[in-house]
Amino acid sequence: MYQLLNGKELSNIIKEEIKQEVSEMVSIGKRAPHLAAILVGSDGASETYVGHKVKMCDAVGFKSTLVRMDSDVSEEELLNKIAELNQQEDLDGFIVQLPLPKHINVQKVTQAIDHRKDVDGFHPVNVGRMAQNLPAYLPATPFGIIQLLERNGVETSGKECVILGRSNIVGSPMSILLTRNAKVGNCTVTVCHSRTKDLKFHTQRADILIVALGQAEFVKGDMVKEGVVVVDVGITRLEDSTKKRGYRLAGDVLFSEVAPKSSFITPVPGGVGPMTVISLLKNTLASAKGEIYA
Ligand code: GUN
Repeated sequence: MYQLLNGKELSNIIKEEIKQEVSEMVSIGKRAPHLAAILVGSDGASETYVGHKVKMCDAVGFKSTLVRMDSDVSEEELLNKIAELNQQEDLDGFIVQLPLPKHINVQKVTQAIDHRKDVDGFHPVNVGRMAQNLPAYLPATPFGIIQLLERNGVETSGKECVILGRSNIVGSPMSILLTRNAKVGNCTVTVCHSRTKDLKFHTQRADILIVALGQAEFVKGDMVKEGVVVVDVGITRLEDSTKKRGYRLAGDVLFSEVAPKSSFITPVPGGVGPMTVISLLKNTLASAKGEIYA
């Protein structure tokens, strides 16, 4: 019988821990941590994610600021706003919600953010520091996965870890983190992507399989071995007329086939998603306490 890696439950526990720390900070006269998010346009999924982030800030006692910009905002205007937030004294960290409209260069935007306020951990300075095992803001989704593995007692040392997807947000940083000589780490990591030959050969070898492809129910039962630990980062809306809201949420893993062969598996929803938001708050708290950059 598999064990669920329950992100909803763990994120609630961590939420209480953060809330406690904030209340202690405030009680000794410090200001509450402050996170800002820039949202360009009104992409449905991004609206939802940013909404969760703001709501969670309220829940733990953080101050939050949502900066909305039109989808036709110029790159220059966005960069000016970033420069302003970089300078804002009472702001511990901020993010620019991705994806951005096509006319805006994501790399330019990422690099414009002061790395000391880059609580998304996307700036090359934070990525480099992470790779060298130095204090850094870790990207929220991989950081959330690390905590999910750690606090469920999943052993990673010496394991074969296979990652599907090489994005800057999930696959690539995940490969760095699990390769490091750290408490959760010391894996032998394989990163698979669109040019990988014989994907099944790799997935069938995995002790730990991390799937971040964005393709609903891509991983089937015959692609994994018995006892595998599965982390499913995908979340896609699939039309479903039997549901009141007209859709259901699916991960990148066909849960009904893969779960019975797994030792641990994340549900979708309620697995990685809630851990991502809580990790962003952890980074913001760390910034407010001067833990990463003194
Ligand atoms: N879009 C999808 N995931 C993320 C994330 O972790 N941070 C930001 N800023 N945008 C995203």
